[in-house]
Formats: sequence, C-alpha cells, structure tokens
Amino acid sequence: MKTPVANPPAVSHALRCIHCGAKEERPGPAFRCSHCAELLEVVYPAWSGAPREFALRLKEIWKERKASPLPENSSGVWRFRELLPEVEARHMATMGEGNTPLLSLEKCARSLRLPHLLAKHQGMNPTGSFKDTGVSLAISMARSAGFSCVCCASTGNTSASVAAYAARAGLKSVVLLPAGQVASGKLAQALEYGAQVLELRTDFDGCLKILHEVVRHFPACLLNSVNPYRLEGQKTMAFELMEQVDWRAPDHVIVPGGNLANGSALGKGFLELRELGLIDALPKLSIIQAAGANPLVRTMRENDGRELVRVNPETKATAIRIGNPASWRKAVAVLKSTGGACEDVSEDEIAKAKAELGADGVGCEPASAATLAGLKKLVRSGFVKPGETVVLVLTGHILKDLDYMRESQNVSLGPIEAEAVEVIKVLERTEQLGTLEKSHAKN
Ligand code: F0G
Repeated sequence: MKTPVANPPAVSHALRCIHCGAKEERPGPAFRCSHCAELLEVVYPAWSGAPREFALRLKEIWKERKASPLPENSSGVWRFRELLPEVEARHMATMGEGNTPLLSLEKCARSLRLPHLLAKHQGMNPTGSFKDTGVSLAISMARSAGFSCVCCASTGNTSASVAAYAARAGLKSVVLLPAGQVASGKLAQALEYGAQVLELRTDFDGCLKILHEVVRHFPACLLNSVNPYRLEGQKTMAFELMEQVDWRAPDHVIVPGGNLANGSALGKGFLELRELGLIDALPKLSIIQAAGANPLVRTMRENDGRELVRVNPETKATAIRIGNPASWRKAVAVLKSTGGACEDVSEDEIAKAKAELGADGVGCEPASAATLAGLKKLVRSGFVKPGETVVLVLTGHILKDLDYMRESQNVSLGPIEAEAVEVIKVLERTEQLGTLEKSHAKN
C-alpha cells in the first residue's frame, strides 16, 4: 500500500548575493547587494534535507493540477508554486503563461544526423515570448509589495510582456526602449497594452543604466531581470520541459543569450530539480550569442569567465543586441555547473537557421534561430555527439519581427493577373526552375 504523504508546505524564501553570499532582508530599488552591489538570487533554506517523498509528491501534484480550471493551477508558472516564492492568489497576475509545446524538428534533425531534436517554443506564451513566465511572477511580487507602477528597459519583448501583465494587474507601466532599435511588432504591443513608452537615444545597455537611476528617485518596481523574481518565473520552463520528457534529462539544452538571465534561470531550474531529487542528470546548458553582440563568448574565451568583456553590440537579431549583460556572472556559473558551451554565430548563420526552422513549419524570431545556428557549430566541433538528444529554446514568436523577414529571405513574386491560367504559368515556371536547380546540384 502507498504511504500517504502530506502535501509539501509552502516554502519561505530569502534573497542572497551571488558574489559575497550576504542575505538581503530589504532589497533596494535596483535589487543589488548592499555590501558588494552584485546581483541577488532567490534561495529556499527550508529545502535542505527535504525527504525524497517530497519530490515524488510534487510530480503527482503538478500533474493533477493540469486538469484544474483554476488560474493558479492551469498557469505553467503557478502550477509549480511549491518551488516559487509564496504569493497570495489575489496578487497573482496570470494569463495561462507557460504551457508551451515541445515540437520535434524532423528535417533539421535529419540534416544534422541527430536522432532527437526538439524545440521548446516559448514564443507560444500570451505575449509571444518567454518573458511572460518571469514577468507573471515579478509583477505579482510587485503587487504584493504594494507598488502601483512597474518599469523596465527593453529590446522589445520584456516591454510587451510588462505592459500586458501590468494592464491585467491594474498597474501603470513605464518602458524605456532604445530608439529605432526595437522591432515594430513589439513596440506596437507595448503601446496597445497602455504602457508609457519612452524611446531614448541610446542602446539597451544605456536604457538599463538610466532606469537604475530613475528608480532611485521614482517609485516604480524595476522589472528587468536584475529583479531576481523574474528568474524564478522563467526557471519554471525547466520544470515544464522535464515533465514533458518524463523527467529524463536531454543531453543538451540550447538558449540564445542577451542580458543572460534566461540561460541563468533555466540552469537554476535544472539544478534545483536535481538538488530535490526530481531528476538524476543535468542537461548541458549552452548559450549562443550573435557574433556582433558576444560579450559572454569573449568573457569565456579571454579570461575563463572572471571579468566581463563588454562589447559595442551590433546585430539584426535586435532582441539580443546587448553588450553589457547584467546576469553574466550567473550565466558563467550555469555554464560551469552544467558543463555547457558558449558560442557565437554570424548574421548569415542566423538567417539560414531561421529559414531551416521555417522549413520544418516552426517560426520564430531571429534571436531564437541563433540556437539552431549554434547547434550546427557544436555538432561540427564534436561538443554535441551523434545519438544525443537536443532541445532548442525558441524564445520569441515569428510575428514579432516582420521587418527582418521582409528584408531577408522572403522575396514575393509581386502581383500577377487574377486569372487561373496566369497562376498555372507561374507554377509551371517555378517547377521547371526547381528541376533545373536539382540537375545543376547533381552535376
Ligand atoms: N530571445 C529573445 C526573443 C529575447 O527577447 C531576449 C531578450 C533573449 C532571447 C535573450 O534573453 O536577455 O535573458 O539572455 N530580450 C530582452 C528584452 C533583453 O528586453 O526583451 P536574455
């Protein structure tokens, strides 16, 4: 007979500096350590020595909740609330975030000779990017703390997500964007959801620096990923993914890197699952950057992750156009503890990878396609071995960045006469061209 195990209790959390280890009782507006100014992370002291039954019971509870219509159970974030900071249900800002599909990429897998290549499509979140999981939690914490205004600097997706969740939570939102460097779909979202949008004559790093100053004098809760609660929400993707693969870790998980919070959050999630005994092995978590915005790659190559090498960022994958990433220390720690790699990829490699994902029927924004471009490099270098299972994290929806697609591959034939005979002529011509191309390729 199965021994009944009590439901795991809600756990209290603490904030701890990732560098000097000091506990922070009352974080300042920039969420930095008051001793050494480094980033903070959320820790759960009550977990140490948690019995094995705790882990097994969690798997059951999480599965049972999937069938529940209650928002706190159907959300792909709050379903995992035993491993999150405690928030009263009335403060939860949720729109059913998470719950994203794990898709197989068959053509891409064949061309890379990999047996299992999967895409965890975070672009299927309510506002079209992975940001929603972290923002759902961070906004709920801001609401619990009594804030009436939230703010962020953004390359676009965070601003869309913050604006939407703030609107749902009845809070005002202010977003600082690098003028002229944000894909128009993302800007339109922030405006539509009613954020106060300020476009500054600087890049993302400049916007974030200014926002740090603003929150010292203006009562708004900072929702960039320096806010450690963002990472707590984002780490739930690691839980959801493991549940989807029946708690058997894939060999590799690959994410794009910008401000470096997402890779850090997923790594934290995997490490916590292992600490609690929910998984036995860790996936290697690798981070891919654009070659023109590769501070982490340079930091690892040039000094093995000890000192950040800042760069002047330039890439058409504007989501990851970041030269001074806030979470670099957390990302270095995750690369080292999971044994992951860090690579950069060219603009052409990103564009090609995006088209290849498209040929598998899976759309995403350019930053997300960097993962496939990076995987190809990691297969060539032998880091990813034949027979291994790989999961690419696609971070944003294809419709976020239409300008990119218009400018790159998709050249339309232009309007033709509205006659079936004209349509057939074009179809026959393209078929002939295809046959010609094939015979050229053979010769
Ligand atoms: N992919 C997409 C689509 C993004 O929007 C971002 C970051 C990343 C990857 C990189 O994630 O910063 O955690 O390493 N976008 C932020 C924003 C910076 O403001 O929307 P990261």
